[in-house]
Amino acid sequence: MDKYAELKIDGKVYRLPTIEGSEGERAIDISSLRNETGYITLDDGYGNTGSCKSSITFIDGEKGILRYRGIPIEELAEKSSFIEVAHLIIMGKLPNSAELRRFSDLLTENELLHENMKYHFESFPATAHPMAILSSMINAASCFYPELVTQDSMREHFEVEAARLLSQVRTIAAFAYRQSRGLPFMYPKPEYKYTANFLHMMFSLPYQDYELRPEIVKALDLIFLLHADHEQNCSTATVRTVASSKANLFASAAAGVCALWGPLHGGANQAVLEMLEEIHRSGDDGSKFIQAAKDKNSGKRLMGFGHRVYKNYDPRAKIIKKACDDVLAKLHVKDPLLDIAKRLEETALQDPYFIERKLYPNVDFYSGIIMRAIGIPVEMFTVIFAIGRMPGWIANFKEVMEDRTARIYRPRQIYVGPTLNHYVPIKDRK
Ligand code: CMC
Repeated sequence: MDKYAELKIDGKVYRLPTIEGSEGERAIDISSLRNETGYITLDDGYGNTGSCKSSITFIDGEKGILRYRGIPIEELAEKSSFIEVAHLIIMGKLPNSAELRRFSDLLTENELLHENMKYHFESFPATAHPMAILSSMINAASCFYPELVTQDSMREHFEVEAARLLSQVRTIAAFAYRQSRGLPFMYPKPEYKYTANFLHMMFSLPYQDYELRPEIVKALDLIFLLHADHEQNCSTATVRTVASSKANLFASAAAGVCALWGPLHGGANQAVLEMLEEIHRSGDDGSKFIQAAKDKNSGKRLMGFGHRVYKNYDPRAKIIKKACDDVLAKLHVKDPLLDIAKRLEETALQDPYFIERKLYPNVDFYSGIIMRAIGIPVEMFTVIFAIGRMPGWIANFKEVMEDRTARIYRPRQIYVGPTLNHYVPIKDRK
């Protein structure tokens, strides 16, 4: 043991190995702790627990750094596209021209849902949240494709199944929206690229193709790209947990969608917009809401603010804020909600409550305003996040499956319930 930490319990000293990641992040390996000492560690919400080693995404929350496979998010946002980044994240490298062509072809070849899947959509009520439909239909896809990715079939089928999932998540998302609006399904067009095709499936009408405006396609592609991975967040950790039981790719990703749905995670983008609308409707300039967000009894939080890892400005938020200004200017949209958001940000960043807790805007603070400007309905916001996050989920699934030494995820607990008790027949119960 080269480097180790010492732990003293009841006078006895135990040595625990330390390990260091490629960016200098250090951890104490406690995997033998219980066997050696009888103790486990307790870490509410896993805020201080490394659940795996991963080579996909690096975040330095103190410095506001985010890199996919070593490449800064700022460079990728400026120069790359969602599909190139998806290849980078899933396959581990930026594609050359031939690889990109092959990847795009695979996405196109696998973009159509099995025709029978169409009938499942019809059984959801029109009021169904599209995240519920998305998760159900991704799981349902595992019924239609026998070449499921299990650990054994991984090598042979992974590329196709990964492309199928990445391509079909977009088709399912658009169909979910059409179903909720009572509109006929639009099939994807093979000549369209990924993001353009999504917009086509969402908004074209049988008698009129949706007019693809480059600034809209670019803005949505950027939103997908900025969400493509984010290390061990709630949904990705869920995907890895499900994958660790050797469940298939579709089942693992469907679980990721469910975890993403909540307003503390991916659902925050919808919650931000609803918050801004509420402030706008009430005539508040934002100051009353900020007061309420600081009061623990109000049940309110400043949505789109704060992050478990970033204790500095979320680098994605910086990019998206600028994109928001650009898109709204190009589309000549004047949105009062943007003014409210800017005022809220300014006020919060000067308020000791937010300063002391290092609460800054996160990626969800401005993304909703862009989506609203390009015509995406609010209930689809988290679905857009899910489409964007798919490469990250797939890559994390792959890491779990490829690690032959990976163990099933199975945390411990500290039991605080009743001690030994006995069954009492119903007649004698109080
Ligand atoms: N508004 C008001 N107070 C807040 C907020 C907020 N948005 N976020 C955190 N706090 C307070 C919290 O009450 C606590 O205060 P105290 O120390 O006095 O008890 C302190 O800051 C630490 O918060 P926490 O809840 O312990 O932090 P966490 O790491 O468990 O939660 C979070 C992180 C993102 C869930 C939380 O900041 C939050 O609820 N933010 C609003 C929802 C949101 O925007 N979520 C999107 C996250 S980014 C997209 C994604 O990757 O999912």
